[in-house]
Amino acid sequence: MKKTVLAFNRVSPELVERLQPHVELIVPSPERGDIATQFAAALPHTHGLIGAGRPLGEEQLRSAERLEVISSISVGYDNYDVDYLTQRGILLTNTPDVLTESTADLAFALLMSAARRVAELDAWTKAGNWKRTVESALFGCDVHGKTLGIVGLGNIGAAIARRGRLGFGMNVLYSGNSRKPALEQELGAQYRSLDELLGEADFVCLVVPLSAQTRHLIGRRELALMKPSAILVNIARGAVVDEAALIEALQEKRIRGAGLDVYEKEPLADSPLFALPQAVTLPHIGSATHETRQAMADRAVDNLLAALAGERPRDLVNPQAWRKA
Ligand code: DGY
Repeated sequence: MKKTVLAFNRVSPELVERLQPHVELIVPSPERGDIATQFAAALPHTHGLIGAGRPLGEEQLRSAERLEVISSISVGYDNYDVDYLTQRGILLTNTPDVLTESTADLAFALLMSAARRVAELDAWTKAGNWKRTVESALFGCDVHGKTLGIVGLGNIGAAIARRGRLGFGMNVLYSGNSRKPALEQELGAQYRSLDELLGEADFVCLVVPLSAQTRHLIGRRELALMKPSAILVNIARGAVVDEAALIEALQEKRIRGAGLDVYEKEPLADSPLFALPQAVTLPHIGSATHETRQAMADRAVDNLLAALAGERPRDLVNPQAWRKA
């Protein structure tokens, strides 16, 4: 008998097509009523969950007595209570690597947009404001040759650093839990404490996973260490930054600008950020290209099917849960 899989977000026709021959697939749909009710009704006989962007822990999964695996279509797994899943022997998988370059591209798009005021001046032009040569009040700042500070030099951080160093001749600084000698060699990247990096960088790019240690890593004190001419880019998770403190710093022009893809509460609605032209606000699209989302879905399906077949999945987040169930 086929196992039951409940798909809960980022469900593409390709994902359905790949899964359907192998599992009994349940995809909650607004046409059939309330999504939460459908989700809750399916959970007790679900063996596998696949999707992204839904907090899942004890409260949500108590009734999921047959659950063997959650396959997240994301690299980040801060939405899941990993300790709880591990204790229950539920495998958790993610989709690393395949989104590294796309996410680094987006970090650079935010950085460039904030520096050269791309989004702001696009809106300005379309509003019919371009009557004569643009005056210095609308000028941006250079990117090439400046100092790029990467907070968290993992795979995505390194891909951003490469773009900065090789594409824009930037000096690269980084902070994090460990030194990266190979990247120091390859890119001339220099290690700094977080405080030092904040004081020296023209662009501070946040690429750390969200954890108890990184929640509000950048708050009022850290923002005060940044140069008034500096730009903050956050493609990590919203809660890595104290958003209220950031808004205050932007309103008081204590930093030049921000390029944001992630927020403390998503979707972002009614935010003071909307009134700040020096804040570029994107709707959490770091990995949102056709190619990359397809690759993520494929990887997530592979992980899911492997786990349901009793094989160790490639991207196991909680190896302690393997063979525990
Ligand atoms: C991830 O995969 O974690 C990215 O933030 C996209 O959701």
